[in-house]
Amino acid sequence: MSDLTRVSLSLDQSLLDSLEQQVAKKGYENRSEFIRDLIRDHLARDQWLSGEEVLGTLTLIYNHHQRGVSEKLVEEQHHSGEHILASTHVHLSHEICAEMIMLRGSGSGIIKLTNALKQLRGVLHASLAMSTTGKDIS
Ligand code: NI
Repeated sequence: MSDLTRVSLSLDQSLLDSLEQQVAKKGYENRSEFIRDLIRDHLARDQWLSGEEVLGTLTLIYNHHQRGVSEKLVEEQHHSGEHILASTHVHLSHEICAEMIMLRGSGSGIIKLTNALKQLRGVLHASLAMSTTGKDIS
């Protein structure tokens, strides 16, 4: 970590109480570490909106018995190949599959691909974890 600078801030007592509860509930050692993580989350979210390069992981749950869904998933991913770093497929049951796709690129490009995939018939659930390449958040 770079040099630390001590800052003070003013909060309403009720907000401070909520902060303390969250720090304890989430198992943080102290307020500072919790607030550092809040700021990093905010910066990462801002990167998604500002067009900077970001990292995401899309989890898709789908029924591979749905006619054509496997082929369409592959086809859509080939159309956006520049965004895809890696993917993993797991057979959850006789008919249900999970696919985790690690993505890098602009937030808007990743969201566009996510929306295309989640709308395919046979896709039961899609969840996008929005992360960062780590640049400019330390
Ligand atoms: Ni499968």
